[in-house]
Amino acid sequence: MGNAATITSVPSQADVAARVEAILGPMSLADKIGQLVQIGGADFMPGPKPEDVIRGGGAGSVLWLNDTKKFNELQKIAVEESPSKIPLLFALDVIHGYRTIFPVPLAMAASWDPDTAEQAQAVAAKEARAAGLHWTFGPMLDIARDVRWGRIVEGAGEDPVLGAAMAAAQVRGFQGPYPGAPDHVIACAKHFAGYGAADGGRDYDPVFLPEAQLRNVYFPPFKAAVDAGVGTFMSAYMDLNNVPAAGNPWLLREVLRGEWGFRGFVISDAFAVGNLVIQHFARDNRDAAFRALSAGLDMDMASGAYLENLAGLVEDGTLDEAIIDAAVRPVLTLKVQMGLFEHPYVDEDLLDQVVALPEHRDASRQAAQRSMVLLRNEGGLLPLSKDLKHVAVIGPVADSMEATEGSWMVFGHQPAAVTVLEGIRAKLPDARVDYAPGPEIRRDYPSFFEDFEPGKKKPAQTPEAAEAAFQTAVETAQGADLVIMVLGETDLMAGEAASRGSIDLPGRQEELLKTVVALGKPVVLVLLNGRPLSINWAAEHVPAILEAWEPGTEGGHAVADILFGDANPGGKLPVTFPRSGGHAPLYYARTLTHQPEDHFMYRSRYWDSPTTPLYPFGFGLSYTTFEIGNLKLSASQMKVGESLTVTADVTNTGSVAGDEVVQLYIHQRFGSDSRPMRELKGFERVPLQPGETKTVTFELGPDQLTYWSSSLGQWVQDAAPFDVWVGSDSQATLHAEFEVVA
Ligand code: GLC
Repeated sequence: MGNAATITSVPSQADVAARVEAILGPMSLADKIGQLVQIGGADFMPGPKPEDVIRGGGAGSVLWLNDTKKFNELQKIAVEESPSKIPLLFALDVIHGYRTIFPVPLAMAASWDPDTAEQAQAVAAKEARAAGLHWTFGPMLDIARDVRWGRIVEGAGEDPVLGAAMAAAQVRGFQGPYPGAPDHVIACAKHFAGYGAADGGRDYDPVFLPEAQLRNVYFPPFKAAVDAGVGTFMSAYMDLNNVPAAGNPWLLREVLRGEWGFRGFVISDAFAVGNLVIQHFARDNRDAAFRALSAGLDMDMASGAYLENLAGLVEDGTLDEAIIDAAVRPVLTLKVQMGLFEHPYVDEDLLDQVVALPEHRDASRQAAQRSMVLLRNEGGLLPLSKDLKHVAVIGPVADSMEATEGSWMVFGHQPAAVTVLEGIRAKLPDARVDYAPGPEIRRDYPSFFEDFEPGKKKPAQTPEAAEAAFQTAVETAQGADLVIMVLGETDLMAGEAASRGSIDLPGRQEELLKTVVALGKPVVLVLLNGRPLSINWAAEHVPAILEAWEPGTEGGHAVADILFGDANPGGKLPVTFPRSGGHAPLYYARTLTHQPEDHFMYRSRYWDSPTTPLYPFGFGLSYTTFEIGNLKLSASQMKVGESLTVTADVTNTGSVAGDEVVQLYIHQRFGSDSRPMRELKGFERVPLQPGETKTVTFELGPDQLTYWSSSLGQWVQDAAPFDVWVGSDSQATLHAEFEVVA
C-alpha cells in the first residue's frame, strides 16, 4: 500500500472544485449523507461496528481510533466496498503532540513566541500524518478568563492579541503551506465560540456574552485561524446567549461564512447534534438534525442524528438537497486536497521512523524551556549550582509522567515523559538526589477519561498511607542540603470536564510545603499545573518559584535545564493569577470603574482579600535584568484611519544572555464605549546578550484601534486621546500618549 506521496504541484482551486463536482454529481442522497457523518472507531463505542457502517456508505470520517493498521483496513473497505468508494478522513485530538508531547497550549502561549507554537504543531502534524491521521481537532482557540475552567489549559489564555497570534501560528504548523501538504494535517479551530466564558467556570455551562465581548475578545483567535487558512471549525457544546452553538446560524452562517468568508466545513463537538435534545433546544433527533444542518453545521460527530434523519427530511421536502450538497462540497474538497483519492493508505512502517527523529524531542525540550515562567527568585537562589551534593525532590507530581505530559493526551498514548525527578538526577549524576512523593493527590469526583482510558483509574491511598507518606517526605527533606518541591495538579485536574471551585494546591501539598520550609533549608518550588493556582503562601515564603506548566515529554530535562542555569527562563504569563478561585473571572483588560482601586477609599473590591492579582498578565522574571527605555512615537497626533509607529529600546543590563518579551499596551481615555484600562496591542520576544540593546517597533493604526461598539452596534475607531505603555508585563510604567483626531 502506497503512502501519501509528496504532492509536487498544488492543484488550483478551480481544478479542485471541478473534481469535486465530478465526484458529487453521481452520488446518491445516501452517499452524500454518509460524507456528513463521523463515527467513533474505538472498540468501546456502542452501536454497529465501524466496518459495517463504512461498508454501507454511512460514514465519511472516523475519530477515536489510533491504530495505523486499522486505518488502512477501514480505508480499504471505504474505497473498495462502499457504494461511493470515497476515502475516509481519520481524525484525532492531537492538541500538543502525537507521540512526542509538547508543552500544553497554555504553556506554549507563555513562550509569547508564535514560532515555538508553529514548530511544535508541525512536529505533531508530521507524526500524526505518519500514523495515518489526516485531521486534528486543534488548535483550541477559546479565550479563558476564568481559572476555574479546566479547559484553560488547552488554549492561549485571556488575551485576544496573544490568542490570535498563537492561533495563526498553530494553523500554519498543523497545515503547512497549503491544505493537504505532505507531513501535515488539516486543522480545526475549536470550540466556536465563547466556550471559555461558561457560568462559574463550570465546563459546558451556558455562556452569556454581549456581541461586543464576542467580537472584541472571543472572536479574534478564530478570525485569525480563518485568515491563516484553517480547513475546518468545530462548534462548541454550550448554549451561547440561549442558542446552542451547534444550532446557531448567527455564528455558523452570518459571522463565519458571511463576514469572514470561511470556505471549509464545520463539525460538531462529540454527540452535540443529538445533545440539542438534551439541552431542551430541539424536540427530537430529527428536529436537531434539521436545525443543526440548517444553521451551518456540516458534519455530525458521533451522534448519529444525521445518518438517521437527513434522508427522511429531504424525502418529505423539509430539507432541500441543495443544503446537503453545500455541506458535502467542502468535505470532498479537503479529501481531494489531501490526495486521498490517489493515495488513500499510509505506509505502516513510516511512524516508527518519524517518531524516532531526535529533532522532535529536541524541539519539545526547547519549547518547554521557552514556556516556563520564573515567578520568584529572591536572593538569586536560582540558578542552582551543579556542585550540590545532596538534594531532596519532594512532591506527588515530581515523578509523574502523566502530570509532566499533561492534559489531552492522544487517545491510547503511552506516557513516556522524562519526569522532573529524572531530569534533576540526569543533571546531577554525582549528587545524592532523594525522592519522596508525599501524600497522593486525586480528584474528589473522577474524570470520565478514567473510564475512557483503561489503567487510569487507581484505588485511593488510605489515610494511614497518606500520613506515612507525609512523614517520609518531611524526613527526606530533613536530610538534604536543598529541597526541590514539585507540586501542582495531575493531568486529569485540568482539561475537559475538569473545572474546580478552588484553585488552591490540591490535597495536603501546601501543608507539606509549609512543613518543609519550616525546616529552614533552601527550598525551590516547581509547579506542574494546567491552570493558575492561588499559591499565595508560597509567593511570600518560598524564595524561588518556577511555573513549568505541563511541559511535555522532555519536561523533566527542561525543568533541570532552567533550575541549573543551562537555560534562562523567558516566559511570561498568558493569564492572570488571581489570589483565589473566588475572584474569577479576573483579567487585566477591564474597564475602569467610577472608584478605581488605587483610590485610598477603595483599596479592594472584597473586604476580605485584595483584588490585585497574585501575578499579573504578562509577568515573568529572568536570570538577567533588562531595561526598556527611549520610548518614541512617530507622531503625537493622527487622524482616524492613519497609523503611527512606536519604538523602544530594550537592553540586557545583566550578566547572562536572556530573552525579554517587550509588550505594548494602550488605553483609550473615552469613546463611544468605555474602553479597557489596558489592552495588549503588540509584543515581541527579544533575545539579548549581556549589554546588548535592540530597538523594538510596533504599529498603532485602525487595525489596533478599531473595536465593536456596544453603543453604536458597529465597528468604530473613535477620535480620542490614548495612553501607551511599553514594558515587561501588563503593569508597565514607561508611558507616552497620542491623540486621534477626526
Ligand atoms: C470532546 C471535546 C473536543 C474534542 C472532541 C473529540 O468532547 O470537547 O474538544 O475534539 O470531543 O474528542
